[in-house]
Amino acid sequence: MSALNKIARTMVSGRRGILAADESIGTMSSRLEKVGVEPTEENRRVYRELIVTTPQLSESISGVILADETFRQKLSDGRTFPRFLDDIGVLAGIKVDTGAKPLAGAPDEKITEGLDGLRERVAEYVRLGGTFAKWRAVITIGDGMPSDRAVRANVHALARYAGLCQEGGLVPIVEPEVLMDGDHSLAKCRQVTTAVLEVLFEELDLMQVQLDGIVLKPNMVVAGTGSPEQPSVADVAKATVETLRETVPASVPGIAFLSGGQSPELATKHLGAMQGLDPLPWELTYSFGRALVGPALETWRGDNDNWAAAQKALSERAVANAAAR
Ligand code: G3H
Repeated sequence: MSALNKIARTMVSGRRGILAADESIGTMSSRLEKVGVEPTEENRRVYRELIVTTPQLSESISGVILADETFRQKLSDGRTFPRFLDDIGVLAGIKVDTGAKPLAGAPDEKITEGLDGLRERVAEYVRLGGTFAKWRAVITIGDGMPSDRAVRANVHALARYAGLCQEGGLVPIVEPEVLMDGDHSLAKCRQVTTAVLEVLFEELDLMQVQLDGIVLKPNMVVAGTGSPEQPSVADVAKATVETLRETVPASVPGIAFLSGGQSPELATKHLGAMQGLDPLPWELTYSFGRALVGPALETWRGDNDNWAAAQKALSERAVANAAAR
């Protein structure tokens, strides 16, 4: 078993999943502001300390994805975040993309940036205690979208990122997110997700990415949030698993879903419904952001009297997702 395969298996096996706490400074700041917390560097640090020090976190969480700012910050006891996570038996991951920007000539579609200097940044993150990385590409469904060029450009960047991470010793989480925004049907989401995953695996092959040393982080196959016809939990589970069976090679050790704006409860139900669908060639787990930490942030609201209750809210979501596996 290669070192990368071993890390990837640790990320996805058993009942555990991955916690995405890697919101960019801008996104984290606006989420803090929404719950009445001043968006300072220190408040972002304190909130992330609340998350990672949640009691028994390591029983349901195998890895935490951090943003660059958090990766370099320290907990109140002086340990860095990666060091603390290592001490509690949780892998430290790092978001290495620098965000999705408008694609030239297609202002409604985005291309994720961050390849320049990535080899050097990967080496630094490994020195700081990182074991895996994340890069998120976003694909929009809409009139004439996604365009071929948006899909091709994004999967190309994902594959080059994955190759650089593996070369430097980090397991890449490969995240091609087909967004839930829009009024499209479940069938449309399935068609687009299939097309994206097909070209993604062609590109990963071209870049000689070792498939047993990645974790795929896709969207679930759902209808757009504005669609009048919302599918049942069973329909989402079936469409998602069928789409993945058609496109994802069995050598990929695990698939860890993003939540994408689903409510925490619904994301958990979908994850649970997928587990019962015949023997699956890969592990199916969670790598939720909002669906794990949303209730905790709402509970905390910057008031440390709510610290324990907020940690309990996170713990409840993490335990529910582990149980769904
Ligand atoms: O890149 C997106 C995150 O890692 C997952 O976030 O579960 O809130 O969609 P989400």
